[in-house]
Amino acid sequence: MSAQVIDGKAFAAGIRDKVAAHVARLTADHGITPGLAVVLVGEDPASQVYVRSKGKQTVEVGMNSYEHKLDAATSEADLLALIARLNADPAVHGILVQLPLPKHLDADLVINAIDPAKDVDGFHISNVGLLGTGQKAMVPCTPLGSLMMLRDHLGSLSGLDAVVIGRSNIVGKPMAQLLLGDSCTVTIAHSRTKDLPAVVRRADIVVAAVGRPEMVTGDWIRPGATVIDVGINRIERDGKTVLVGDCHYDSCAAVAGAITPVPGGVGPMTIACLLANTLTACCRANGLAEPEGLTA
Ligand code: GUN
Repeated sequence: MSAQVIDGKAFAAGIRDKVAAHVARLTADHGITPGLAVVLVGEDPASQVYVRSKGKQTVEVGMNSYEHKLDAATSEADLLALIARLNADPAVHGILVQLPLPKHLDADLVINAIDPAKDVDGFHISNVGLLGTGQKAMVPCTPLGSLMMLRDHLGSLSGLDAVVIGRSNIVGKPMAQLLLGDSCTVTIAHSRTKDLPAVVRRADIVVAAVGRPEMVTGDWIRPGATVIDVGINRIERDGKTVLVGDCHYDSCAAVAGAITPVPGGVGPMTIACLLANTLTACCRANGLAEPEGLTA
C-alpha cells in the first residue's frame, strides 16, 4: 500500500481563502477589521522567521498586524504592561506571545496575563480548562489544524483508536482533548510508555508530536492508519540541512492509508489556524456569527 498524501499546504491555502472572504464581509458590512498582535522578545532566528511569516499572512487575508519586537533583556514588568495595553485595545482581537521566551521571563505568568478571549494560541489556563471540559474555547493552532485534516480525510472520527505520541501542553495534551471530543478512544504515549511500537500499532490515527527525527517507523504503523506528523526537525543529511518529521516518511507511507508530509503537512496549517482563531475571536468580541468550519 502507498499512502494518500494529505496536502497541508493546499488545505491551509483553502482556510486562508475562507478567512479572507469572511474578513472582507466583516469589513464591508460592519466596518470591523480583525487585528492580531504578535509579541517577540529577543532575537531567536527561528522565532523571527515565524513572526515574519505570521505578519505577512495576517495582512494577506485582510487583517491588521501589529508586531511588537522587544529587546531580549526586557523586564517582566514591561512585558506585562504591554500585554495589559493590548488587552485593553479594541483594535486588537488576538494576542500571541512568541515562545520560547528568554529564560528570565516566566512564560506561564506571561501567557496567563493575556485576556483569554484574545488568547489565539489557546495556551491560557482558562482556555485549557474550557477545552478539557468540552466548552467553547480558543483552541491551540497546531492541534486544531491536525483535527481539521483528520476530519476532512476520515469524515467521522467516532470510535476510532487514536494514539498521540507526545504530552506537551502545546500539542499532545490539547490534541488528545480534541480527539476525545470527536469520540475517539485516545491514548497519550510518551517517552516512558512501555512497548511504544505495540501501542502505536493499535491506532487507526497516529499523531506524532515528540520532536525526535524519524522516530516512528513503518513497522509501528497499522496498515491503512492515518498518520499526522507534527514534527519539524532540522537534521544534517548528505552534507545538507533537511527538514524531517517525527515519522520516517518512506517506511510509514508504505504502510499507512494516509500521511502528512514534512514539510507541507501540519506546518502550514498552524499559521492558517492562527488566522482562523483571530477571526473567531473578533466575531465573538463583536457578538457576530462565527465562521463555519474554522473552529473545533
Ligand atoms: N513557538 C513555536 N510555536 C509556537 C506557537 O504555536 N505559538 C507561540 N506563541 N509560540 C510558538
